[in-house]
Amino acid sequence: MTANPGPSRLSLAARDHLWMPFTRYSPYYDHGVEVPVIVRGEGAYVWDEQGRRYLDGLSGLFTVQVGHGRSEIADAMAEQARELAFFPVWSYAHPTAIELAERLASAAPGNLERVFFTSGGGEAVESAWKLAKQYFRLTGRPTKHKVISRSVAYHGTPQGALSITGIPGAKEPFEPLVPSTIRVPNTNLYRAPEHLRDDEKAFGRWAADRIGEAIEFEGPDTVAAVFLEPVQNSGGCFTPPPGYLERVREICDEYDVLLVADETITAFGRIGDTFAMGRFGVTPDIITCAKGMTSGYAPMGAMIAGEHLFEPFRDGTNAFLHGFTWAGHPVGAAAALANLDIFEREGINEHVREHEEDFRRTLERLLDLPIVGDVRGAGYFMAVELVQDKATRETLNTEQAERVLRGYLSTALYDHGLYCRADDRGDPVVQLSPPLISDQTQFDEIEQILRATLTEAGNLL
Ligand SMILES: Cc1ncc(COP(=O)(O)O)c(C=O)c1O
Repeated sequence: MTANPGPSRLSLAARDHLWMPFTRYSPYYDHGVEVPVIVRGEGAYVWDEQGRRYLDGLSGLFTVQVGHGRSEIADAMAEQARELAFFPVWSYAHPTAIELAERLASAAPGNLERVFFTSGGGEAVESAWKLAKQYFRLTGRPTKHKVISRSVAYHGTPQGALSITGIPGAKEPFEPLVPSTIRVPNTNLYRAPEHLRDDEKAFGRWAADRIGEAIEFEGPDTVAAVFLEPVQNSGGCFTPPPGYLERVREICDEYDVLLVADETITAFGRIGDTFAMGRFGVTPDIITCAKGMTSGYAPMGAMIAGEHLFEPFRDGTNAFLHGFTWAGHPVGAAAALANLDIFEREGINEHVREHEEDFRRTLERLLDLPIVGDVRGAGYFMAVELVQDKATRETLNTEQAERVLRGYLSTALYDHGLYCRADDRGDPVVQLSPPLISDQTQFDEIEQILRATLTEAGNLL
């Protein structure tokens, strides 16, 4: 028998020097848990430093749409770095940022023509709120500044985006945050008020009308924007009920409030279209996006605004007083363009639309397990909700969530060769978001690993 060699040098250095976001360190220091070190990726799979293979069930962090190891994206980035590694887009421009802005504008719905680049999703959300505020000031409605967002929604960690976020536990250490954000219900049908559970349309109408009610309550002349994800990630892939987004659009129009679709996750094929709002057929005033824009090959985000929001910035001395050094980075933009080329050449959106039902049906097989209460989502963006009692939908209590989700499931999934996320920011869910090139082979692999680990998790309740 060979002795366990123990943590590698890299793993120990990660523990001692790499401060990992949202990460508890006590398992590493007190319980000998090793920081996993991932060294290589190809297609839908990644490998650790011991050479073990894992299915990337979360596309990194909802980013690696076209899969790992695409040398054409790497080549485009290298070529751009040799040609022009950096130049800002502050009153100057360079070809890759221009071309990318043009391409994103033409893919975005309606009149969303103005692309403001950021380095990620949280910065895009910040930018959208600041644009909404400055826009209303410039157009003679300076008191419109508040934001309405949905419960349990995650919109990022900068203080403005965190203030818009609807997860109390993530905000509490940093209070007081930016004031003037208000929460309304999300579209979790599984947890809908009982009288609405069997009527998705009525539930959607009810949930949308809560937004109108909140605007009335706060005073329409104080509310600037509603932020929502077309399919909400946190809490586990809440899809919009039929008519919901249309009704929200109607309410925003009625009260002169901007609709901001936070598509940080849902854009770039995750729901089978470049923008999910395009697929759902509702045009927001602003889209925020990031992650899949470069398939994760470079950090890049954007706020894409309607032409009407740009209008006041054409005049006189006006300028949007906001920006980031890395905005429109030439190498990031080159990665994004190469990524979008792959989308077109390989029909990535079409592939997702063709296989999304297979993905859903494969995961729905898990509904025979007592611990699986619900399987939901859209496109390649699915969640499996865990319950302690399927009949009453009773969720795991805090002790069970800690013991089963954190104590067992997170590690067990990985040990079985599946990288994904067991999350309890809302009710406990396992989130699955594989690279968009995945097909039945990966769906089956995900189902088999989940079946083994969730069966054991059920025994541990
Ligand atoms: C909907 C949504 N908005 C914003 C963010 C923040 O993005 P970033 O981490 O790139 O700042 C995320 C990140 O997961 C997200 O899912």
